[in-house]
Amino acid sequence: MANASRIPDDVIADIKARNDIVSVVEQYVNLNKRSGKNYFGLCPFHHEDTPSFSVSPSKQIFYCFGCHKGGDVLRFIMDIEHLSYLEALRLLAARAQIDLPTIDDAAYEKKRSQRQLLTEINLQTARYYYKNLLSPAGQPARDYLKQRGISAQTLQRFGLGYAGAGWDDLYQYLLKQSFTPAELAESGLFRQNKYARTIDLFRERLIFPIMSGVGRNRVIAFGGRVLDHSLPKYINSPETVLYVKGQHLYGLNLARQSKSHDLILVEGYMDCISLHQAGIDNAVAALGTALTEQQIRLLHQHTSDLIISFDADTAGQTATLRSLDLLEKEGLSVRVLKVPGSKDPDEYIRQNGAERFRALADQALPLLDYKFSVALSLAQKNGSTDLTIYQDQLCQILERINNSILFEIYLKKAAELLGISLDTIRAELQHRQREHRGGKSSELATKQAKPVNGRVAADGSGQDPQTESRVKVHMSQDEAYFLTILATEPDIWPDLALRPQPEDFLLAADRAQAPQPYAWLGEVLAQAAKGELGVSALLAPTSQFELNGTALNDVLTALMMRLPEQASRAQAKAEADRYYKQVRIDALSRTQHQLREQLRHSEKQQQPELEQKLRQDYQATQRQLYELRFNGRKA
Ligand code: GTP
Ligand code: MN
Repeated sequence: MANASRIPDDVIADIKARNDIVSVVEQYVNLNKRSGKNYFGLCPFHHEDTPSFSVSPSKQIFYCFGCHKGGDVLRFIMDIEHLSYLEALRLLAARAQIDLPTIDDAAYEKKRSQRQLLTEINLQTARYYYKNLLSPAGQPARDYLKQRGISAQTLQRFGLGYAGAGWDDLYQYLLKQSFTPAELAESGLFRQNKYARTIDLFRERLIFPIMSGVGRNRVIAFGGRVLDHSLPKYINSPETVLYVKGQHLYGLNLARQSKSHDLILVEGYMDCISLHQAGIDNAVAALGTALTEQQIRLLHQHTSDLIISFDADTAGQTATLRSLDLLEKEGLSVRVLKVPGSKDPDEYIRQNGAERFRALADQALPLLDYKFSVALSLAQKNGSTDLTIYQDQLCQILERINNSILFEIYLKKAAELLGISLDTIRAELQHRQREHRGGKSSELATKQAKPVNGRVAADGSGQDPQTESRVKVHMSQDEAYFLTILATEPDIWPDLALRPQPEDFLLAADRAQAPQPYAWLGEVLAQAAKGELGVSALLAPTSQFELNGTALNDVLTALMMRLPEQASRAQAKAEADRYYKQVRIDALSRTQHQLREQLRHSEKQQQPELEQKLRQDYQATQRQLYELRFNGRKA
């Protein structure tokens, strides 16, 4: 976003205005005018058989009721072409034949041509390694694949390759293809040896091309495995202009074409390949690193049902547990598949066949059951169960359940497992809550159970595995609806019954920790006051904000899609008034609540002057609330 401000707002507005969203989307999606004023088609961001992807020509937004992605024409291009904000703007400007100011043409051009160049280098490289695998030189690698049960067809589908023993075979080959040493230097495929000679990164390794998985199918990086037991077992390309660690998933290019509605997440290249070969074509691999937020969002774009099948060793199980909380937070429904008696899914399939694996997938444990099973294994020592540890682990899990229905169900399960009454376990949880509370709000205390006896919480959630990139915000449904009406009906402002002010919004309470969302709100209201607010202006930075685990951008477009096409301006105004009235009532109630607290405090401290002032404020607030509730107008 930083660069975006270099292009003047009116130019951006012009670019958007001259790229009608329907005509842009139609270049990627077959649209039908089905109901009312909206167009529908098959969502390009996740697999589906019935259309839930909608485009509103009047609001100039898209929204998928299946995967909940949404936004304006710019967001669509960013997501579908996998471009940055500025790049998408360039593309749309070119489409509308608008000349962009040339301020960072040079930098932009450089990056674009670097990407293009590397895409080409990677393609040539993948072809080279592939041919090499099938040539006489590839015999050791073919033997290795055969021994691991990988068929010729699978080899081809994943475009596997082989890097031979030569020091610089690939380098020499690419030089012959007329790439220059300078161009190859940025590719990540080479390194300097100690005599300052350029040599190939991958030598005597089986090669796994990594595909982008979004937009056009491009080779963005490579992984390479040794054919024996030497170390390191795998090496991967370093980061380049095309490849950023933690942002991609191996196999997604294939899995996104699967007919299954869910995805299976595994740890290794070989697990992923093995599953596909067995006909389980919805498997993707996390590429070694701990699952990142970007990868989770990528998963979420394709499914909301995820099955995790990590390795059976402790590293795999810890990775699973780490990932679980992050996945849950992103709103994915997660089940865990354990492969009994095998090291990893690949080995399981080779030993037991695809059908048995499918059966396991069908019985994969819901998240909380999985956590319960881990709790038991943690408590087991030399064949007997340490009840002190077991009950503590179960309580820790229960404390973190936010959904009250699930809480009751698992409370019962825990009571049964421990052979105690519901009352006993409830009492214990209450007792623990009081202990945790020490000064902090009860909400915090229940959500972050402390390590007991100095131990780290069993699932590692004591540490924050991922620094958050999106700013968390609070916003009520009424606030969100009000803002979306304001953006779709920009000229109602002068007639609104109440004068909207940023302090009324929940964001006001967050402003100390999160100034950007509040600044955005201020800007939105200021633009609305000038009659200049539009859908795009409302949405502009909101993909950076997060409401209950969802990008605010997606929440707002979802609401906009649900707004009726306003029959009249008067109706829109009435709706906006109704929502804003509730916003103001909520704000005043919060103020009142605070005043009541302060009053209680000042009474205790015997501060009569302060007390009187607070009492007056309280009554004024009370009156305003009364007016609002019973007269509607005036504030
Ligand atoms: P096989 O041993 O061939 O079955 O491989 P695997 O895919 O089962 O690998 P494993 O379970 O050992 O590791 C899972 C993933 O972690 C691999 O697919 C790699 O992406 C990554 N990985 C494993 N070992 C290394 C390593 O030594 N270096 C790097 N960079 N990544 C590794
Ligand atoms: Mn393996």
